Amino acid sequence: MMEHLVRVRQQCLNFCVQVAISSSKMSHVSGDHSLNINNVDNATPKLPPIVAKLTLAIHVSTAVISLSLAFLLFDSSLFSWHPLFMSIGYILFMSEGVVSSIMFRHLDGPVRVRAIWTHAVMQARALICVALGFAVIYQNKIIGHKLHFKSTHSKFGVATLLMTVLSPLMGVVSFKRLGIITKFPEKWHSFIKFLHRRVGLITWLLAMITIQLALPHPTVKRTLLTPLWQIGITVLTFLLMMLSSRSQIKLKDDGDRKHSSREVDLDSSNLTHHQQLSKAL
Ligand code: HEM
Repeated sequence: MMEHLVRVRQQCLNFCVQVAISSSKMSHVSGDHSLNINNVDNATPKLPPIVAKLTLAIHVSTAVISLSLAFLLFDSSLFSWHPLFMSIGYILFMSEGVVSSIMFRHLDGPVRVRAIWTHAVMQARALICVALGFAVIYQNKIIGHKLHFKSTHSKFGVATLLMTVLSPLMGVVSFKRLGIITKFPEKWHSFIKFLHRRVGLITWLLAMITIQLALPHPTVKRTLLTPLWQIGITVLTFLLMMLSSRSQIKLKDDGDRKHSSREVDLDSSNLTHHQQLSKAL
């Protein structure tokens, strides 16, 4: 029985590592496309150096933090699946999903559609992990005859979970390819997409706060590792915010360029800069 448990645990951890590596590659691939689009004649992708460094730092920190949390807190107990699924779901998949969404801001046409699918797959993986992580902790509380949603972490956790469900739903509505957005008046489209981007980022931030609140809990507290995880998540949050704001500056530049070449197609007279971009994409 014990041997079987150890084998299952090893297989699960191997699976997590494989998925971690492939997801990191996936979000990087969508980044590469963005570069190819901007450098059509150039086979070698070139990111602006600061964006390249930020992206690399985010890939490394998401992998290190999520896998160390998942591995080092794992002891085959039912509870330990909660930090495992939550850290893989939020720190690895959701962070990489957010990075991939930042990368396709500048894309257009079929490459953009492909990049959006990549983003959607990453967020779907996050959602599956989060659902499993929640089911585990909920069941664990029932087994231990403990009251639900009492700690600050669990209250923030519920808010994060609600946002985690809302955000992909808004993504589904925003994705033109699925046709739902066309049921809404055209003038709402840019606002719906804007709302999805904002809700997505707030959800990710809320998740980082929720995890920070869990780290000092006696069940998971480790003398040396806890401060390192706390610092790591703070740094990751800072890096991703920087990448997002850097990219917004770039979006503005790209937008100015795109407008000059697409003005003929767009009825730009009554649209704001943001609405024009959204319509163009
Ligand atoms: C954003 C990710 C996370 C979310 C949304 C989340 C959500 C929740 C929720 C809703 C509960 C309460 C369940 C209930 O009362 O029935 C809970 C409990 C708990 N979680 Fe998390 N969790 C997350 C990440 C983590 C991580 C990474 C750890 C460990 C490092 C962790 C450790 C705990 C602990 C120790 C409890 C029991 C706390 C208590 O007594 O209320 N959680 N979590």
